[in-house]
Amino acid sequence: MCGIIGYSGEQNAPEVLLKGLARLEYRGYDSAGIAVLKGEVIKIIKKQGKLEILKEEIRLRPLEGTTGIGHTRWATHGEPSDRNAHPHNDHREDVAIAHNGIIENYKQLKKELEESGHIFKSETDSEVIAHLIAKEYKGDLRLAVNEAAKQLKGSFAIAVMHQNEPDRIIGIRKDSPLVVGLGKHENFIASDIPAVLEYTKEIIYLENNEVVDIKKGKCAVYNEEGVPIEKIATTIEWNIAQAEKTGYKHFMLKEIFEQPEVLKQTFKKRIKNNKEVVFEELRISEDVFKETRDITIVACGTAYHAGLTGRYMLEKYARLSVGVDTSSEFRYRDPLITKNTLVIVISQSGETADTLAALREAKKKGAKVLAICNVLGSTMAREADGVIYTHAGPEIAVASTKAYSAQLGILYLFTHYLARVRGEAGNCPADFIEKLTKLPELAARMLKHYRKNENKIKEYAAKFHQYYLASDNKSCFLYLGRNINYPNALEGALKLKEISYISAEGYPAGEMKHGPIAVIDENTWVVCIAVKSDTYEKMLSNIQEIKARGGIIVAIVSEKDLTLKGKEADYVIAIPETDEIFSPILVTIPLQLLAYHVASEFGYDIDKPRNLAKSVTVE
Ligand code: F6R
Repeated sequence: MCGIIGYSGEQNAPEVLLKGLARLEYRGYDSAGIAVLKGEVIKIIKKQGKLEILKEEIRLRPLEGTTGIGHTRWATHGEPSDRNAHPHNDHREDVAIAHNGIIENYKQLKKELEESGHIFKSETDSEVIAHLIAKEYKGDLRLAVNEAAKQLKGSFAIAVMHQNEPDRIIGIRKDSPLVVGLGKHENFIASDIPAVLEYTKEIIYLENNEVVDIKKGKCAVYNEEGVPIEKIATTIEWNIAQAEKTGYKHFMLKEIFEQPEVLKQTFKKRIKNNKEVVFEELRISEDVFKETRDITIVACGTAYHAGLTGRYMLEKYARLSVGVDTSSEFRYRDPLITKNTLVIVISQSGETADTLAALREAKKKGAKVLAICNVLGSTMAREADGVIYTHAGPEIAVASTKAYSAQLGILYLFTHYLARVRGEAGNCPADFIEKLTKLPELAARMLKHYRKNENKIKEYAAKFHQYYLASDNKSCFLYLGRNINYPNALEGALKLKEISYISAEGYPAGEMKHGPIAVIDENTWVVCIAVKSDTYEKMLSNIQEIKARGGIIVAIVSEKDLTLKGKEADYVIAIPETDEIFSPILVTIPLQLLAYHVASEFGYDIDKPRNLAKSVTVE
């Protein structure tokens, strides 16, 4: 939800800001803008629409300066427009701000400011911040920001400049992410690391209410009381290529193809001597897991689907009862959590507002919270009692792919670990680790076939596109799965909806007769996950039932299984054979590719689907 960046150094700020914004665009893309300070003048250019529009405007009206702030927006208050785009300034144009978050008390503040003569130009909540800082300014921007922040309710990460203070940028955060990048003769602040990765790998994570004061050769961090504090920088392992498309047409496709390597790294770092799972970074002791009575997994979207999949393996092998909840429900449900409940929050970004609130709620109830996160040093990673990082590298496409399979990978490892620690290792098959570590190779083989065009997913997507147009846009998708692949049915439908805007629903196949069967006709494409499993025969019966009602079957099958090919299934996608329990990671890849190619047929902006933002840092 909105990305912000600030730069003070020796380079041309607009260039640095625009490059940074391009790497933050996944956070919002309905408008963008930059403000640059030169001499004692702040100049702002901001435009509705994607970053390319802003770039073009700046090409026509170049800005110069070595200090600046930038913003890419996902609208909450006020429609996407030039006027509502950030940066915002006060009416005297002394202060410029870029804000990510929501100011809940902006109406009250705006009223008071207007009464004291401030003139507002936009419909946003954010504009009050600029006016408030201008009002509090008495010669030191940091103090003014501190004073203003005390009056703000809600969530914010803010970058601020004042025209009287050349080279200086102040950043502050509360419940929205903000990192500091330390360079040589230059410093940065940004909502996320990829924005500054080209220039530095030395990152400081700011805690809530901390204030950072940067100039080109200076960086100081202060606590809420204004006392300077020592912060240790972390050296990031990510490299800039991970934040580039490197020849792929879209980040989503690149990230799908990265999955074998991501899984390999996920397993390699945690499996010792090919037999034991060890989490070195885990901050929760084994004793806590020995005392655990039940598990609750909480997450949103794709991460929630990973959690649903986790339930099957944890219950089967670690023999603990597992509940799974979406964060937005959990946080208001007054759930039954005890100090012996292990709450697992799963989040790629580690910043999702509802999951963060759920984490805090769980801690308040006395539970131990384990976070499975991708972004190092993210708020969840810091606030949870323990963290396991997915180490999938930066995920730029809005639709999550590699983070999902990495989350599944971690859940397998954690299942094995938990079973061992709790004396339940005997429940896990002896070849659990061996089969698990084969998955990256199997995924790589599948993707290689696909690359050689031995896999027909692209063709099927083109067929669907034709049907869609011929059916007067009536064609829709239903995804069915059973057992541990039921969550994949939800995930396949979510992926398709997100990037191709086609109506799609995921269902447990056994529930089909309890409702969804009513929608099946010749316009319904039904993706049936029919890989080798204990419920395979039941899925075959479902397929017969769909066929009898004219539905079009896309079957995901195990590679040697020819049962459906050329018979009930209209389209068949084969995946390498593995035990049912390990199949979700392999099943999800063709589902991702199907969504990708359908969206591609429609010519949509796959990495930046409409209305979505990658990191939902507001409720
Ligand atoms: C789907 C997707 C979203 C996220 C969800 C949670 O492709 O990306 O559904 O999974 O917004 O985000 P994180 O994992 O960052 O908490």
